[in-house]
Amino acid sequence: MAKFLRRKNEGDKMARGLIPQEIIDEIATRLDIVEVINEYVRLEKSGRNFFGLCPFHNEKTPSFSVSPEKQIFHCFGCGTGGNVFTFVMQIEGLSFPEALEKLAQRVGVSLPKRELTEAQKELLEKKQKKYKLNLAVSKFFHRLLLETSWGKPALNYLKKRGIDIATIEKFQLGVSLPQWDGLLKYFTQKGVSPKELEELGLVVPNNSQTGYYDRFRNRLMFPIWDEQGNVIAFGGRVLDDSQPKYLNSPETSLFHKGKHLYGLHLAKNSMRSEDMAIIVEGYMDVIACHQFGVTNAVASLGTAFTKEQAKLLMRHTYQIAFAYDADLAGSKATLRGLDIFSDYGCQIRVIKLPEGLDPDEYLRKYGKNEFNKLVLNGMSLIEYKLVKLMESTKDNSILSKTKIVQKIIPDLLKMDSMVARESAVKLISEKLDLTETTILSELRYFAQQQQKLPQNQDIKYKKRENNPKQDFPRNKINRTEAQLIKILFEHPHYLIDVEKAGGKELFTYPLQQLFEEIFEVFQEKGEVVSTDLSTGDNSKLLAMVLMQEFRVPDLEKAVADYIKILKVNKLEKEYLDKQNELKEAEKLGDGERLKEILSHIEWILQEKRTLAP
Ligand code: GTP
Ligand code: MN
Repeated sequence: MAKFLRRKNEGDKMARGLIPQEIIDEIATRLDIVEVINEYVRLEKSGRNFFGLCPFHNEKTPSFSVSPEKQIFHCFGCGTGGNVFTFVMQIEGLSFPEALEKLAQRVGVSLPKRELTEAQKELLEKKQKKYKLNLAVSKFFHRLLLETSWGKPALNYLKKRGIDIATIEKFQLGVSLPQWDGLLKYFTQKGVSPKELEELGLVVPNNSQTGYYDRFRNRLMFPIWDEQGNVIAFGGRVLDDSQPKYLNSPETSLFHKGKHLYGLHLAKNSMRSEDMAIIVEGYMDVIACHQFGVTNAVASLGTAFTKEQAKLLMRHTYQIAFAYDADLAGSKATLRGLDIFSDYGCQIRVIKLPEGLDPDEYLRKYGKNEFNKLVLNGMSLIEYKLVKLMESTKDNSILSKTKIVQKIIPDLLKMDSMVARESAVKLISEKLDLTETTILSELRYFAQQQQKLPQNQDIKYKKRENNPKQDFPRNKINRTEAQLIKILFEHPHYLIDVEKAGGKELFTYPLQQLFEEIFEVFQEKGEVVSTDLSTGDNSKLLAMVLMQEFRVPDLEKAVADYIKILKVNKLEKEYLDKQNELKEAEKLGDGERLKEILSHIEWILQEKRTLAP
């Protein structure tokens, strides 16, 4: 019985204590791991499995695989893996019970009520209340715009800019009152405290700390949503040329600049169907794009593009088109964003807009078809960088050309497709009027220099250290053991043979633990499925083991052979141990012990001969 208690880690054990195994199994059978993961990672089918870019480490070629048959995922790059529960735990940062809860809701299975702590309850309620208040505020602004005379100037302004009513509705545009306390009065009369409004950045305490005033006054209002469509903040634009043109909500508990993208909840579906995201700079650009039918556009809202934002998009597509203004600020922002995405291995395009036009203006002037053409003809990262470098270099001397080549080489080296690199080299040679040979020899020289740098190794080493979890001891796993476990998992009746032949003693770390767990589940349930190993390293190991591709013509014989090999391995290990003991005993001059060890060694050799004659 003690064996059973050891089986699950603490959190898991507790959850299983509270939630009957049958319910966990019920949830597992109703879920499709491909469907769940596909919401976070773009998966493409290849053979029997699905592949995508691993969300748990940076990579450029997909080594993250999902098996619909086995209902597991595994990354051949970083070694992580597991079942649908572990995936949701890892990607959402949830505990096992939390992940279970989430997935149970998804498939409509109700879990036995898990009591939240008072503190958790309070936090949850507070958050819900804030979303509700923000929603009420957005409706307030929206109604002011459409249903009151306060909205006339803003409505005229929108009309002048060609925004139609459907778009006003879609983006829930609104207007704030030309008063210092319009919103404050309205909502406090409804029983909302000024403090609550302040927490959402809607009112600001006055200088003498005697009261509050509205943050947004007389502005065209844009609600800002999170990916799920909750209103988390607001942006407000003046209706004339006064400054500042835009005023945004401050950072609040709901709104963190750089973690959201404007319009994402409206754009995410078409990002998937179009397999591309278009990033623009401003509210008005997103709005115009959607009105013109370019529904895969989102905005970064003037701030520098962040990794968090990149990750938000990469859940939906790996093809990113930048349509930032052609001005200098625009191109600086573009460059930062480009590097983030290219480091993540995305395919990037930079849309070249005519000088002085933003996507909004371009669409109005030339229409959707021309805009789509611009998107299709977008520049690659290399081309864009090259153009920028050439613009910033005045003269046309060999020296400055060489400098440009040297600056662009790191990007060439980052490319992991030979074809892409070749065409980039061609492009550079054409643009700079240099021979391809010259560029290639610069490239080779640079690569050689880099290899000589000792710090490179340090970086690799550090990365590993920072990420002990991902640094899975892949090379330490015994292939025979792994293959046998896969067979046992798929044909668990052989477990009995293996148990008879020595059971867990045949295996070494870390697969020994996995074998034990599989065997225990089998004893309990008479079968084993991937979700039986819900959390922890064993789930990861199992995924890796199951993702092995190998064929055995005769299963029966294969199992017998594997057992034999493992027995031999075990004997060999014992032999080495005994040799060491022998040396020890010799040193100590312990005659009794020596004799004992020698006879054991003799036995080992005999056993080995019977197994592998
Ligand atoms: P229009 O000028 O109405 O076409 O708006 P736009 O969306 O094209 O704005 P613009 O290209 O000037 O700026 C891009 C984005 O940067 C805006 O949507 C805002 O998010 C942000 N931004 C622009 N001006 C300001 C400002 O004065 N203050 C703040 N906080 N943000 C600004
Ligand atoms: Mn604009």
